[in-house]
Amino acid sequence: MPDTSPSLLASRPVIPRPLQVVPGEENGLALTAATRVSADPEARGTLVWLQRELGAATGLPFSSGDEDSEIRLSVDPSAGLGREGYRLIVDDEGAIVIGNDPAGVFYGAQTLRQLLPAAAHRDAPIGDTDWTLPAVGVTDAPRFGWRGLMLDTARHFVPKREVLRYIDLLALHKLNVLHLHLSDDQGWRVEIRRYPKLTEKASWRTRSQLGNPRPGEEPVFEERPHGGFYTQDDIREIVAHAAARHITVIPEIDVPGHSQAAIHAHPELGEVGEIPVGQRWGIFDEVLAVTDEVLEFYRNVIDELLELFPSEYFHVGGDECPKTQWKGSGSAQRRIREEGLADEDELQSWFIRQLDDHLTARGRRLVGWDEILEGGLAPGATVMSWRGEEGGVAAAKAGHDVVMSPTATSYLDYRQSESDDEPIKVGTLLRVEDVYLAEPVPEGLSEEEAAHVLGAQVNVWTEHIDTPRRLDYMVFPRLSAFAEKVWSAGERDYAEFEPRLLHHLTRLDAAGVEYRPMDGPRPWHTRPGVHGWG
Ligand code: ACM
Repeated sequence: MPDTSPSLLASRPVIPRPLQVVPGEENGLALTAATRVSADPEARGTLVWLQRELGAATGLPFSSGDEDSEIRLSVDPSAGLGREGYRLIVDDEGAIVIGNDPAGVFYGAQTLRQLLPAAAHRDAPIGDTDWTLPAVGVTDAPRFGWRGLMLDTARHFVPKREVLRYIDLLALHKLNVLHLHLSDDQGWRVEIRRYPKLTEKASWRTRSQLGNPRPGEEPVFEERPHGGFYTQDDIREIVAHAAARHITVIPEIDVPGHSQAAIHAHPELGEVGEIPVGQRWGIFDEVLAVTDEVLEFYRNVIDELLELFPSEYFHVGGDECPKTQWKGSGSAQRRIREEGLADEDELQSWFIRQLDDHLTARGRRLVGWDEILEGGLAPGATVMSWRGEEGGVAAAKAGHDVVMSPTATSYLDYRQSESDDEPIKVGTLLRVEDVYLAEPVPEGLSEEEAAHVLGAQVNVWTEHIDTPRRLDYMVFPRLSAFAEKVWSAGERDYAEFEPRLLHHLTRLDAAGVEYRPMDGPRPWHTRPGVHGWG
């Protein structure tokens, strides 16, 4: 028999790159109607996923086949594979995935799917596909425990079906955190039963800024309403869909800045009475008052959300909170005096600390943007470092956990080339290779300090991303490069990665992802006349 397996294997590079891939001696396993899948009880979730996903793509039942062609899913914590690690062995008789834990089994199954033709990522068979898995032994485990994407659902709403699709795409890339930015000046996106006005009044705005104005000029608006929100049942569905794919969904309610939408629904939360839901992009003076009533309100909001989101972490934002209103506010100045605080920075820190106490008492952990360092870090806080690496370094040196997402290497709303054809160019240049090569762990940390770096995250802010098609264009293929950086240990050489990425694009094509082509935007990706000026 011809030995086709090594070339078959070489033609299907796995992204993110596994720790070790050893070609097998044999021809591999042809998946047919006789192939069955069996699983240990702890691995049943992956069996269901595999039957559903591979079953749809191939049209094969993967149920009552025979012993001569079996995919076996097994959990063995004693195999020494490491957290979320797995081993996948394919030979002529079958495939076995041994996971250190259920997540490891799931990642092994994702690798198995990538070892099939790209059509394995479609939703229905297209005919005439040879479903042969190459003979191989793969041993694999992730470098970091936090491998995340933040999706801003506030600036432009991301419909539930798209969130579910993104969860599938994160899972395809072995990413395990979806951070949902659920509130901002321009919208409140989650139903809170106790405060229905949040979604009745704050989940939509009358118009939206279009692009950015040149410095000194007035913005242009798109004169139509924009809105949307997730019901609590939508959130339950999203969280369960994610959990079945070993992804944790972390909610963010951004306080005490970026809160205009909430203040519109409940003017008593603010310092100045009635204000509209934000229509412009930027940083604004309208922030929360630091009163007992405001704290009570947000503790109640958090309590409802904790019931929906089982994640260990709850994100309270904390970024970009101008102190102008507090400087002139009687209640803020009284609080500063009563609590013996030095200034408004310490007032923000005091506010965050109240929420940290609340979350800690409920067995959860607070995470916030790196401004929560100013005025003193709350004892239980984890810091998301975004204004460069300094916040992450300071927090890790102080013994706090950190997640790295510095703008220069992690902001997927930033421009992908300097061409004028890039749509609504903002931020600095962030190409696929820049994402790929940037090292997540800052230099200058001791081993002990570096152990506080839980991992890294890319963030996609949606001021200028108003449709799922635009979202795909900004996120992919940069997310594929990010996934390899946070999953795969070892050297990263972009020249070695790029050909593998080109193959991976055929999987994204099959999955229907409208990524940015490597050679630049197609005509329909451009936004003539709408400028970022960033
Ligand atoms: C942020 O980009 N304001 C966290």
